[in-house]
Order: sequence, then C-alpha cells, then structure tokens
Amino acid sequence: MEGHISISGLSHTYVDKDVQTTTLIDINLQASRGEFVSVVGPSGAGKTTLLKTIGGLVKPSIGQIFINGNSPKKAQRFKNIGFMMQDPSLIPWLNVMKNVQLPLKLNPSTNQDQSSRALEWIESVELTDYVNYFPHQLSGGMKQRVAFARAMVIDPDIMLMDEPLGALDEITRSSMQQHLLNVWEKTGKTVILVTHSIREAVMMSDRIIVLSPRPAKIIGEVRVNIPRPRNERLEHSDIFQQLIQETKKILEFTKTA
Ligand SMILES: Nc1ncnc2c1ncn2[C@@H]1O[C@H](COP(=O)(O)OP(=O)(O)O)[C@@H](O)[C@H]1O
Ligand SMILES: [Mg+2]
Repeated sequence: MEGHISISGLSHTYVDKDVQTTTLIDINLQASRGEFVSVVGPSGAGKTTLLKTIGGLVKPSIGQIFINGNSPKKAQRFKNIGFMMQDPSLIPWLNVMKNVQLPLKLNPSTNQDQSSRALEWIESVELTDYVNYFPHQLSGGMKQRVAFARAMVIDPDIMLMDEPLGALDEITRSSMQQHLLNVWEKTGKTVILVTHSIREAVMMSDRIIVLSPRPAKIIGEVRVNIPRPRNERLEHSDIFQQLIQETKKILEFTKTA
C-alpha cells in the first residue's frame, strides 16, 4: 500500500469572504506505488490546489483522498509526503547543509544521524562541494536541487512537485529532468508532477492527466508506454512526438469547447 494515492469525487471551492472560486470538480485519480504521474492543464485551472489537497495543505470541500489508506494529514504526520514547490523557498540564513537538514530537525524521530542522511542527498544532487554555501551564492538550478534534497531527506513514499523546474532556463531544466529521472528510477517513489511543459510530462511520466480550464475536471489521460531508462535522445523518436501531439490535442480541445 505504501506510496498509494486514491482520490475520489474530489471537488474544491475556495471561499474568501463572499467570493467563491470553484477550482476542482469531481476529480477521480489513483496512483500506485512507484508510479510517475504528471498533471498538465491551463494556468489557473486548479493544479496547485489539487497538489495541496493531496498534501493535506488544503481540505477539499467534497470528496475523499487516501494516502496509503490514511488521510493526507495523517500521511503528512507519518512523513509519507515530500513537497517541492515552484519556488525553492530555501531559508536564506541557513547554508545548504542546514537547509536540507531542516525537515529532520522539525521532526526529530529518525534514528539515522541527521547530518549523514542530509549529506547523502546533497551528494545525490551533486552539491557536495557546496554544503557551506548560502542560497544567495547558488544558481537557480542549484537551489532547486537543494529543494529536491530537502524534500527527499525524510524519505517520503510520495513526492508532490509543483512546476519545480518552471523557472529554469532550457538547458538547466533539461539536465534537472534527467537528474530527477535518475534519482526517481533508483528510489521508486510515487510522483505527482505538475508541469506546464508537455515535453517534460512525456519525458518523465508513466501517465499524463490532462485538466480542463477552471474549474478543473480531468478531460483526458495519456499513457506513456516508453521504456526506461529514458534520456534526451528520446525526443527525436516518433513515439515521443506522437504522445506530445496527443496531449496537445486534448488540451486544445478544451480551448474551443
Ligand atoms: N487560497 C485561495 N483562496 C481563494 N482562491 C484561490 C486560493 N488559491 C487559489 N485560488 C484560486 O483558485 C484557482 C486555481 O488556482 P491554482 O490551483 O493555483 O491554479 P494552477 O496551479 O492550475 O495555476 C485560481 O482562480 C486561483 O485564483
Ligand atoms: Mg500552480
């Protein structure tokens, strides 16, 4: 059951004073252990809201979410969920080592030595030479790698990633994608990745969920049956281009509907 996500009949309406904003309508979605699922959809559709409900940060108005059979709040307490936001939101006055260790300090229940554990993840994102650097001394890509290490250090079953590479330039982005893929292939975590890049979704995922404009409904699903490990050469293959077109078609359909 570990790493399993089950969402049924999920709808959400934000109520802000007298303004109501319905963002999600009747979302039904399952993800099994180790599956890599991407979510694409127009800006403002409700993608971040969907991730927040899965992560237990927003309580949905209607419907149910189970993470390993538990509520998102409980899953959060059990450290089943790692969250990576678009903005790396590192603590400016803490160095790389201390930023990565932070989740362990906040939940000091792990046996393994905190610094060795943090160091393992810093190594895996190839920042060993930068442990004493502060966020302002790092490039955008490096900051994202720190944020990734920080999300992974609690060893969650599930990683929720909200456009984590959106702010990076094309080359850094592409190398980060490969990096995330390599790490993911080794760890077998369940991933839900929100991205506005269809190419990224095809490159990384097993399955792509397409959302309509707000209020977001699931309007399509594309299976990416491309063997792993995958790399950038894949982009030139027919199957890759076909899957991009297929996803685009679903997205474009919603614009005219
Ligand atoms: N805390 C909030 N209170 C009220 N409305 C919100 C809140 N957060 C997001 N919204 C609204 O919900 C809609 C969906 O937002 P969001 O989930 O961030 O979309 P996306 O991530 O797909 O761009 C938007 O119209 C946004 O303005
Ligand atoms: Mg968003």
